[in-house]
Amino acid sequence: MTNENNWVELCGLGDIPQRGCRVVVTDEIKIAVFRTHTDDVYAIEDKCPHLGGALSEGIVHGAQVTCPLHNLVINLINGEALGPEPACVKHFEVKKEDGKVYLDLIPVKKEAA
Ligand code: FES
Repeated sequence: MTNENNWVELCGLGDIPQRGCRVVVTDEIKIAVFRTHTDDVYAIEDKCPHLGGALSEGIVHGAQVTCPLHNLVINLINGEALGPEPACVKHFEVKKEDGKVYLDLIPVKKEAA
């Protein structure tokens, strides 16, 4: 975590269905906030790295989402695609406090390889 966080209160945990999603739209980006069947919450850019499909309309399974267009699987934890070609989307920190979900609008920086 950095000092550059920009936390916003998003909604109650119950406002996101299990295996479902809510979309946050800013001036720069659409962010898909997913809730898994175990009530973990993850946030990634709502744009598939393949051809831009809306990941918010994908199928959530475990901590992954499958793109609705061509079935690319994205790891919700780090935004990385699980496929032969390296690809990833921006991902964002989320936290749950007192039944509320908070989203950091600053994308997590990738570690240098
Ligand atoms: S646009 Fe997502 S897999 Fe093609």
